[in-house]
Amino acid sequence: MWGPEKTAKESWKLYASKSGVVYVKNYLTANKRVKIRSIWDNVGYLTEKATLEVKEIYGEKVFETPKPLTLIEHLVECCVDERGLVLDFFAGTGTTAHATENVNAADGGLRRVVLVEQNVPTPGTHIARTMGFGSLSDLTRHRLQYIQKQRPDYQFDVLDWTAETAMGSA
Ligand SMILES: C[S@@+](CC[C@H](N)C(=O)[O-])C[C@H]1O[C@@H](n2cnc3c(N)ncnc32)[C@H](O)[C@@H]1O
Repeated sequence: MWGPEKTAKESWKLYASKSGVVYVKNYLTANKRVKIRSIWDNVGYLTEKATLEVKEIYGEKVFETPKPLTLIEHLVECCVDERGLVLDFFAGTGTTAHATENVNAADGGLRRVVLVEQNVPTPGTHIARTMGFGSLSDLTRHRLQYIQKQRPDYQFDVLDWTAETAMGSA
């Protein structure tokens, strides 16, 4: 049924039954080949890894609850097709944007991301404040700038959205 070229490219769709019959498994979309598992136990999903990543990007542990890149990358691979739009309403350090960019770089995708983070002051004595991150959203912006330094083609905009803005646009 298939020539060598197609077989080399799409062999991941082929399955063999116990009796040796080979069949083609049809997926909903051409690129959804990752089967989501019930238990995610990769060591790359540990929060300690996220803390190391934050220290590398910010220089210090400026955020208490970051998520590791590997975890979000795998979620994006599983759930977002190559032109998908990702919304993270709890952006924190912007791991979701970073992970999505990494997946795009790996598979040539054009996924876009919308992040939302509160523009509230960081606590007065917190290390983030002493390092010049006056608000939580400054932390989010810093990772977007970090990605851009690594990949100059990376583009992002920051919108300041307030209740007044919402009322004004109604
Ligand atoms: C667990 S952290 C997210 C961590 C993030 N995934 C990361 O890797 O850094 C949750 C974030 O949601 C934000 N948040 C909570 N309520 C919010 C709201 N109503 N609007 C926007 N952001 C909110 C908090 O400020 C906090 O930064």
